Amino acid sequence: MASDGLNTALGPIHLRSPLVAASGTVGSVWEWSEVADVEVYGAAVAKSVAPVAWPGRPAPRLAPTGPGMLNGIGIQNPGIETWVETMRPLLGQLAVPVWGSAVGANPEEFGLVAKGLVTAGIEVVEINLSCPNLEDGRMFALDADRSREVVEAVVASGDVIVGAKLSPNAEQIVAVAEACLAGGADFLTLTNTALGFGINVEDRRPLLSCGVGGYSGPGLKPLSLRCVYEVAAAIPGAPIIGCGGVTTGRDVIEYLLAGASAVGLGTVHFAEPRAGARILSELKSEMRRLGVRDVAELIGAVKPW
Ligand SMILES: Cc1cc2nc3c(=O)[nH]c(=O)nc-3n(C[C@H](O)[C@H](O)[C@H](O)COP(=O)(O)O)c2cc1C
Repeated sequence: MASDGLNTALGPIHLRSPLVAASGTVGSVWEWSEVADVEVYGAAVAKSVAPVAWPGRPAPRLAPTGPGMLNGIGIQNPGIETWVETMRPLLGQLAVPVWGSAVGANPEEFGLVAKGLVTAGIEVVEINLSCPNLEDGRMFALDADRSREVVEAVVASGDVIVGAKLSPNAEQIVAVAEACLAGGADFLTLTNTALGFGINVEDRRPLLSCGVGGYSGPGLKPLSLRCVYEVAAAIPGAPIIGCGGVTTGRDVIEYLLAGASAVGLGTVHFAEPRAGARILSELKSEMRRLGVRDVAELIGAVKPW
């Protein structure tokens, strides 16, 4: 269980711990909750869901590479109606707030999914603007105007707290972040995976059946941190979940210093489903060592040269 000094505010949301389980790495949350210490997390984000079921890409769709992993799952999901039926009875039984994640091909589809998530009892919806392997290959998060349109559609869909999940591939990340906040987003998640590619030299085929996929894990950390740092510097006080390559309590502190108010854990769950408890305990001992009593003292406290 998180304790004093670990509470954090993410826009209108109060989190008991700065750790957030990242979408797509803890399933629907339910299965994972059977093995993980979910109470050490402030929230857990369920796998992205679309208006209708998507089968996802054929295998291989996960491949370790260097200090990280490539994935090209293709947002396999049951579609919003089935998701609501399955998850509605389960949400209240979990010892962690569950957030939804919406994906779609256009703003209307995102809005439709968000509406469904709300009917299931979801209070916070993260908008996946940054999936690198949708069928038509388009990524909303590379375009400020398109991102804003999606955020506006989700905001209009109902009484819900909205987060926009962006891509480390957006060179103009500040412009996209500003557009999402102007469209009504309550917080930003920085970031999703980065576009990546790998080849098996034995059979000369790409590591993933879809070719280019999403790169995550430790190698992603400097790229996602760049986004957090630039956005926090340009938009002081912007509520940010930093996400990308976190494996230790020290990584969490780095994201907080860069300007994040909460920190996502993703790929680390594949090798270590109970990583949250270890990382929270490391965070506490690092805070003690550094003489920090409250995470709020760390947020955005990076110093200039
Ligand atoms: C296998 C896999 C599936 C993912 N699925 C989703 C998803 O459905 N929706 C989403 O917003 N992000 C998804 N992500 C991205 C993660 O939530 C996270 O943003 C990213 O992996 C970077 O964090 P990490 O380096 O800690 O994994 C997925 C990542 C992985 C590795």
